[in-house]
Amino acid sequence: MIIAIDGPSGAGKSTLASQIASEFGFLHIDTGAMYRAVGIYIADRCIDVADAEKVEEALKGLKVDIRFLNGMQLIYLNGHDVTMRIRQPEVSMLASNVSKIPAVRNFLVDQQRLMAAENNIIMDGRDIGTVVFPDADLKIYLTASPKDRAERRYLEQIEKGFDVKLEEVVADVQRRDSQDMNRSVAPLKPAEDAVIVDTTGKKFEESFAILTELIREKMKLQ
Ligand code: DC
Repeated sequence: MIIAIDGPSGAGKSTLASQIASEFGFLHIDTGAMYRAVGIYIADRCIDVADAEKVEEALKGLKVDIRFLNGMQLIYLNGHDVTMRIRQPEVSMLASNVSKIPAVRNFLVDQQRLMAAENNIIMDGRDIGTVVFPDADLKIYLTASPKDRAERRYLEQIEKGFDVKLEEVVADVQRRDSQDMNRSVAPLKPAEDAVIVDTTGKKFEESFAILTELIREKMKLQ
C-alpha cells in the first residue's frame, strides 16, 4: 500500500506521517530530507544553484541513503550521517532552491520509487501524489493557514534549540511555499484525486484521527 501526503511546509505532514506509520506498521519516508541533503551537498561545494548544469554534474559524486533505526529515518550523504544537520533552519531554503532543478528531482524520484517496491509506505513531500506515485492508494493534501503553519514551524525550531524569530520563520515559510508552488517542474499542488485536509486550528490528535479514518476506510476496500 502506498499513501502519499503532500502539502506546504508546517502543515504537519511529517509528524502525522510518522505517527501513522507506527500505528499501521508502514515505513515513513520523508522526501524533504532528501532534498535537504542535496541542498547541503551543493552548498558545501560552493556550487551556484542557478547553474543547473554544474549541479547536475555534481550529482555524479553524490549518494543519498535513507536508513531506518527503530522506525526513525536517518539520512546519509556519501556515507556521513547528516540527519541532524539537515534540520538547521538555513537548510530549508537550500533544499527548496535545489528542488527546482529537474536533474535533482529525477535523481531523487528514482530512489523514492525504488523504496516503495518492498514495503507498505507512507511518503510525504510536495509531489508524491502528482509525480512520484500518481497511482498511490490514497493521496492526502494537508494544508493549514499561513499563520498556523508558521507558528508550528517556529515552535518546532525553538524546541530543537534554534535561536529563531517568529518574523523570520513567517518570511521563510512564505518565500519557500511560493517558490515550491510556482516552479516549473513538479510544483506543489493537490493531485486531482487527493483528499484535502485542512489542519487549521486542529490539535494533533484531531488531524491524526481524520487521517487514520481515511486510511482504515481505504484498507477495508482492498
Ligand atoms: O518537507 P521539507 O520542508 O523538509 O522540504 C524542504 C524542501 O524540499 C521544500 O521546500 C521543497 C523541497 N521538496 C520538494 O520539492 N519535493 C518533495 N517531494 C519534498 C521536498
